[in-house]
Amino acid sequence: MDPCILVIFGGTGDLTRRKLYPALCNLYREGLLPEGFAVVSVGRRDLSSEQVRETVMDSINEFSRQPCSCNLEELEQSFLNRFHYYKLDFADSTGYGHLKDFLEELDQEYNTAGNRVFFLAVAPEYFSEISNDLHNHNMVINNGSWQRVVIEKPFGQDLDSALVLNAELRKTFGEQNIYRIDHYLGKEMAQSIMVMRFANAFFEPIWNNKYIDHVQISICETDGIGTRGGYYEQSGALRDMVQNHMMQLLTLVAMEPPVDLSTEAIRDEKVKVLRSLSVKREDVVRGQYGEGIVDGQRLKAYRDEDKVAPDSNMETFAALKVFIENFRWAQVPFYLRTGKRLPHKYAEILIKFKKIPGVLYFKDSSLNPNILTIRVQPDEGIFLKFNTKNPGPGQTIIPVSMDFYQHEIDGFNSPEAYERLLHDVMRGDSTLFTRWDEVEYSWRFVDQIERWWHTSNEPIPIYASGTWGPKEADLLMKNDGREWFGPTKS
Ligand SMILES: NC(=O)c1ccc[n+]([C@@H]2O[C@H](COP(=O)([O-])OP(=O)(O)OC[C@H]3O[C@@H](n4cnc5c(N)ncnc54)[C@H](OP(=O)(O)O)[C@@H]3O)[C@@H](O)[C@H]2O)c1
Repeated sequence: MDPCILVIFGGTGDLTRRKLYPALCNLYREGLLPEGFAVVSVGRRDLSSEQVRETVMDSINEFSRQPCSCNLEELEQSFLNRFHYYKLDFADSTGYGHLKDFLEELDQEYNTAGNRVFFLAVAPEYFSEISNDLHNHNMVINNGSWQRVVIEKPFGQDLDSALVLNAELRKTFGEQNIYRIDHYLGKEMAQSIMVMRFANAFFEPIWNNKYIDHVQISICETDGIGTRGGYYEQSGALRDMVQNHMMQLLTLVAMEPPVDLSTEAIRDEKVKVLRSLSVKREDVVRGQYGEGIVDGQRLKAYRDEDKVAPDSNMETFAALKVFIENFRWAQVPFYLRTGKRLPHKYAEILIKFKKIPGVLYFKDSSLNPNILTIRVQPDEGIFLKFNTKNPGPGQTIIPVSMDFYQHEIDGFNSPEAYERLLHDVMRGDSTLFTRWDEVEYSWRFVDQIERWWHTSNEPIPIYASGTWGPKEADLLMKNDGREWFGPTKS
């Protein structure tokens, strides 16, 4: 792997502490960092590199998926000492010139050859500003070295703002050097979907409208919005979850086999799915959490949360029925559901297979359907429900489940999404990042729903905290003779 310096803008922020530092430590432990490597945390506070190293240690101890079992002295020598702090206020564009000099000094020390990963772990309003300042100070040169930028979500607030942001970034970085993070793609099970579909002979032949009744994709959360009221009032569930994570899961389930396993071939197929999406106005449901009692505790309504308008109409729940208009999926509904303050926290893709009407055992209408579940989190795994004969006399049929949990693989401790993603950026592999046209088509899809909601005078349905959302979401299913499944139990 090429040597490089990872420059983290927002080096004192929450994302860096909770995700990036622990991910880097795990990569170090696995021997996955390049030989020539350094980290520069950029922030506006008065801090020393020593203090940053202490924060790195603290965040590893608090947030890492595995305890720090390394020899501390060795860890210090070969890992912690590579962390540096650089004080810079984004508003002060002269500071970038000094940052450039600082990075070039580190190039000498660590043999990093001018290669950079600029990770923008900052609020979206700074994305363009930082990118432009990097350009103005000749910090992105690409002559024999490479410079890549990693952008956190959200990538715009709608198609128009995403177009503007993209144009700004493209002034400085080529498309191949822009890594738009969707951390769901870094999750193990999301990566397993393609393998499951295309590395097994028995799934692909039945992966179509002849055998599949419908698909449900749920990303449910028990938490409310916490301290993120300011952000959420501009975003809502549709932009926060559907435009990115849910669309990405949907494309992985629905895409055609790519011509090969190259980054662009995979992305081409995902884009085709996004271009084929269709949704009707009556098939989208929104909701907002009201008060509720969960585990004996009274939870406040969304409108009573900090930094939320008392008459806010922002949705904290969205459910929709969409179709993919192609030969494989014609007439197979994909139901998507996401929300806050729901009874369970989990992310799952559930595929319900059709019954064969009126034949042999299928004459019994109570026969359970075959269901395949891909659990993305927690306890990632794949579960297959099928029918078998109840052992003993008689012909009673019972449903049973075949389960596979990732953690059953010997010694497996699922890497955090950010480990895989950081490693891929350093390797220059952008398969698990979203290409511009994926962002564009998902915004096109989401924007039309936003327009319907914003031109509607209907009050937003309120659901009690701790319930499965507004009754309209159940009706969306009931009207089709179907129902939502909760988290799959093995
Ligand atoms: N937190 C997560 O788990 C998470 C998950 C997914 C995506 N994200 C995305 O990641 C990004 C960062 O989120 P976060 O939660 O880490 O935010 P945060 O905790 O508010 O951190 C923001 C960082 O930006 C720095 N900053 C702000 N204004 C600055 C300025 N003028 N000059 C220099 N530094 C400045 C802050 O420095 P100070 O410390 O001095 O304020 C801080 O280091 C956002 O785009 C967010 O949507 C976060």
